[in-house]
Amino acid sequence: MTDHAENGRIERSTPQSNDVNSPDGDATGMNGRAERSDGRAPSANGRAEGVGAQVENPAGQAENANDRPGSQTVRAMEPTDRAKSAAAGSPPLHVHRLRVKAAAGDYDVVIGSHLLAAADRFFEGVASADAAVLIIFDEALATAGYPQTLQTALSQRFSSIHAVALPTGETSKSLLQAERLYAECLAAGLDRKSVIVALGGGVVGDAAGFVAATFMRGIRFVQVPTTLLAHDASIGGKVAINLPQGKNLVGAFHPPRLVLYDVETLRTLPSAERSSGLAEAIKHGIIRDPGLFEFIAAHAEALLEGDPSLTAELLARSCQVKADIVSLDERESGLRAILNLGHTVGHAVEALAYGAYSHGAAVAMGMVCETRIAVRLGLAQPELVSTIQQLLARVRLPSDLPNSLKNAAAIDELIAHMRLDKKAIARSLPFVLPESLGSVRFMPAVSEQIVMEALAD
Ligand SMILES: NC(=O)c1ccc[n+]([C@@H]2O[C@H](COP(=O)([O-])OP(=O)(O)OC[C@H]3O[C@@H](n4cnc5c(N)ncnc54)[C@H](O)[C@@H]3O)[C@@H](O)[C@H]2O)c1
Ligand SMILES: [Zn+2]
Repeated sequence: MTDHAENGRIERSTPQSNDVNSPDGDATGMNGRAERSDGRAPSANGRAEGVGAQVENPAGQAENANDRPGSQTVRAMEPTDRAKSAAAGSPPLHVHRLRVKAAAGDYDVVIGSHLLAAADRFFEGVASADAAVLIIFDEALATAGYPQTLQTALSQRFSSIHAVALPTGETSKSLLQAERLYAECLAAGLDRKSVIVALGGGVVGDAAGFVAATFMRGIRFVQVPTTLLAHDASIGGKVAINLPQGKNLVGAFHPPRLVLYDVETLRTLPSAERSSGLAEAIKHGIIRDPGLFEFIAAHAEALLEGDPSLTAELLARSCQVKADIVSLDERESGLRAILNLGHTVGHAVEALAYGAYSHGAAVAMGMVCETRIAVRLGLAQPELVSTIQQLLARVRLPSDLPNSLKNAAAIDELIAHMRLDKKAIARSLPFVLPESLGSVRFMPAVSEQIVMEALAD
């Protein structure tokens, strides 16, 4: 094995060790259902039913960790990861596993502890052992050793592994960095059968995903998220880079082949980033899963401190909401727009406040403002505003716009920005509005007067 690092790039090559199965996931298309897989044999009636983040645990029991109403078919899978790892002589892993439907091929989201060091076990269906792999990682993660751990694990399966660092921060979602990464892909010998693995938060996921979507007209892509917010970003296949004129203006739908979420990496995440990620989970609770909202309320402090087991459960439940919605509407032709709760106002705040707020903080303010709009329209009870505000405060997120954004000139600017929203038709003011916990409604055109009043509240 050779191993050297220079200029943020780590190169390693190992002798090829084992062979794996079919490189391609099934292209089964969408049937409007996201499935959770528990890896167990089917129950007596041949089907395991019910909604639940299925947990593979050392005792071999799949627990229903979700009390949300509804019913789904849970696909019975081949041997469990536990069984496979036992066969390989490795310790069992305790994972939540869910499945997302995508036209290009369904994919698994695997959530658990210590997955980085065992990553090779999950790549079996991703690519054959002779595929070249390029890990693109957030340079800030090198000190924690995550890229090295992942690379070592993947070298158990793949013979050609390269890793390249991406500078930390939003500015890396650029054409300049994309061009540099294309050059790295070529230098690493990537071809159409190769795999790009994104290790980092939403920035790396979006940038590496964009490169994977476009290099040689699209190659395989795996997301290994390391921020809480990236649970939202890593599912659904949207990848993008920014232009000087605005965020995410150049992009594609390019679903990953696998999302591998090691919650242990979240231990090093600054608490402000944890709060930011919780905003998206609270959003998922409001739009679709009141039980998730209550789960966050019940464990707010432990989640802020990064408790791995509760974080894994939170992620499983929140990812399930996203998985359900993008499985129903992969290309955002309708339903998927509800994921924009809080974002119409939130994006305008981010644009005007020039980096003063995290994405989650801006979305938090947006969700409260949009709930106020719903109350003014008679769609929601006034108590819904305080219910949401209280939970946001507990996870240290703001509810109210700063005074600097509440004067008449700032409100005009915020509204002008909202009219540029991608969902605006003829510069209308479109909003996703909460009606109650678990239920939202899309309103394509809300009156400017009501929006102004809610912003000033
Ligand atoms: N594609 C989508 O559907 C989608 C959805 C939501 C957001 N996004 C995008 O995601 C981006 C924001 O993502 P983000 O909040 O993850 O930001 P990020 O990737 O910039 O990460 C936030 C910060 O955390 C650091 N970090 C990451 N993992 C860490 C770890 N384990 N320990 C310590 N520090 C760590 C990073 O270096 C960075 O400083 C935005 O560009 C946004 O547009 C995309
Ligand atoms: Zn968001």
